[in-house]
Amino acid sequence: GLGIAINGCGSATPSVSVSNENLSAIVDTSDEWIASRTGIRQRRLAPPDSSLTQLAAAAADHAIAMAGITATEIDLILLATSTPDDLFGTASRVQAELGATSAVAFDLTAACSGFVFGMVTAAQFIRTGVYQNVLLIGADVLSRWVDWTDRRTCVLFGDGAGAVVMQASQLDRFLGFELRSDGTLNHCLNLSYEGGSTPLLENVAIAQGGFRPITMNGQEVYRFAVKRVPDVIEKALFRANLTVAQVDWLLLHQANQRILDAVATRLHIPANKVISNLAHYGNTSAASIPLALDEAVRQGQVKPGDTIAASGFGAGLTWGATIFQW
Ligand code: ACO
Repeated sequence: GLGIAINGCGSATPSVSVSNENLSAIVDTSDEWIASRTGIRQRRLAPPDSSLTQLAAAAADHAIAMAGITATEIDLILLATSTPDDLFGTASRVQAELGATSAVAFDLTAACSGFVFGMVTAAQFIRTGVYQNVLLIGADVLSRWVDWTDRRTCVLFGDGAGAVVMQASQLDRFLGFELRSDGTLNHCLNLSYEGGSTPLLENVAIAQGGFRPITMNGQEVYRFAVKRVPDVIEKALFRANLTVAQVDWLLLHQANQRILDAVATRLHIPANKVISNLAHYGNTSAASIPLALDEAVRQGQVKPGDTIAASGFGAGLTWGATIFQW
């Protein structure tokens, strides 16, 4: 197989910032409760006149610039999202926005694991020599689908986008991965279609309806993450022929600081190797890993050659890990 390098990253978030204090005006909550239970202090929310496409394209622009390529050189665009502008697919809208005329573009849905699943999907196309330049975007606007009367969920989520450019390379920097799903736990976290029953003909009814806002069993999701994430990282490290001690940065889906801490503790990874920016953005679903990566790279925290263990986990349920060198 051919080598893979991650040569650019970028991110974009809406400018509107909403604090925990602000949320206490719409649901019965407090900054103390939210910050102590989750580590979240504020989140960005996309205004009504904005689109997922714009957010995704803005993140992509930064990643393309850092990689030093032009949009027309991109062979494949993968958009990991659960909150598309168009259920038929939003990646091609992003393609048009970027002017990536040579690219094929499609959506990929694996909730908060979407970015990690996307990295692995991109890697397969590069390994086989089919594509050289892949743009992977993780973007979500969960604010569209949160029940803003439900204090158990509405305080957790925010909007954002992050992107990376993955390229064929002499040196291989994509070292290992492991992906998992368990549909028997699907009920823990849903953004489900719910059809009514609309009569069409005498013996024919169809199920026109809509989507129900996000529902979540927080404690079950917490237990799942703390148990499964360390396990999947260890498996991915084993495939990469690396030990936990060789990991420079633990880059987890930014769901909850307590999950980050518990996973790091279980893996015996010290807190100073754990990347965290969820205080500022909350849980941005498929965007959280590339958003945190982009900030860490641009702040000079993550340096060229550093080994990163990334793990996404969430609805499906899905979870997975990738091991790569920046
Ligand atoms: N403000 C004040 N009180 C609250 C709030 C809030 N925002 N939310 C819940 N409470 C209350 C509950 O109503 C409950 O009160 P009650 O006993 O009177 O009914 C009490 O706090 C305890 O509720 P729990 O749900 O048991 O709270 P818990 O300590 O488990 O914390 C939390 C909830 C933070 C959601 C935790 O379960 C968690 O982090 N789970 C993981 C969730 C997660 O990360 N999901 C996303 C990952 S997957 C993805 O990214 C899509």
